[in-house]
Amino acid sequence: MAYNIAIIVGSLREGSINRKVARSICGIRGDNLDCHMIQIGDLPLYNQDLDANPPEQWTRFRKQVAEADGVLFVSPEYNRGIPGVLKNAIDVGSRPYGESVFDKKPAAIVTASPGSIGGFGSNHQIRQACVFLNMPVMQQPEAYLGHVTDDSFDESGCLKDGPLKALVTVLAHAFHDWVDMIHRSRAALAEDAAHAAQEAAKQKEHA
Ligand SMILES: Cc1cc2nc3c(=O)[nH]c(=O)nc-3n(C[C@H](O)[C@H](O)[C@H](O)COP(=O)(O)O)c2cc1C
Repeated sequence: MAYNIAIIVGSLREGSINRKVARSICGIRGDNLDCHMIQIGDLPLYNQDLDANPPEQWTRFRKQVAEADGVLFVSPEYNRGIPGVLKNAIDVGSRPYGESVFDKKPAAIVTASPGSIGGFGSNHQIRQACVFLNMPVMQQPEAYLGHVTDDSFDESGCLKDGPLKALVTVLAHAFHDWVDMIHRSRAALAEDAAHAAQEAAKQKEHA
């Protein structure tokens, strides 16, 4: 079974290296990850006053994330933090209070940069938001992809063979396994709970 994955890229740039990395991850696990790039550049800035009558772009975004089995954040670092466009998308999806579309969705965070620390600051700010959003985030491998440039990709935008592609391949497999483990565990727990409820009902009947 292929899992429906919402990919949220924190860059609007046409030639974004982060979008290319996201596409590579989808390509590597295309058999089991049905990836959808979710548009965030059109989302009006979050304003709590609009919650009663939300803009249609917010509604579309919330529906796309709600339908997903997991979320993959792939983002640059801007000034050692989350790009504003991504933070806005996270805020839009998290509201109205109590109706967050991110709740309980398994997630992974990947940051890529031409710089040497691979967007570490941005990665951990996204991770911090995911803690509050109650998203089980894949812990390992951590993905601070440094020294990523246009040269890391071939003409079709795929990662060239080498250590970066090897790491991204490990990541793609680990993310699939993470989403799979969360969903299988939940299904097993739900089955156990249903079984326990049935047993309790039987015992009540015979009491
Ligand atoms: C406003 C701005 C701030 C940036 N700040 C950082 C930074 O803090 N750390 C870093 O590694 N790169 C930083 N960069 C460089 C980006 O990593 C680089 O432009 C990268 O290609 C952006 O990702 P993208 O190709 O996916 O758009 C910054 C770029 C911009 C435009």
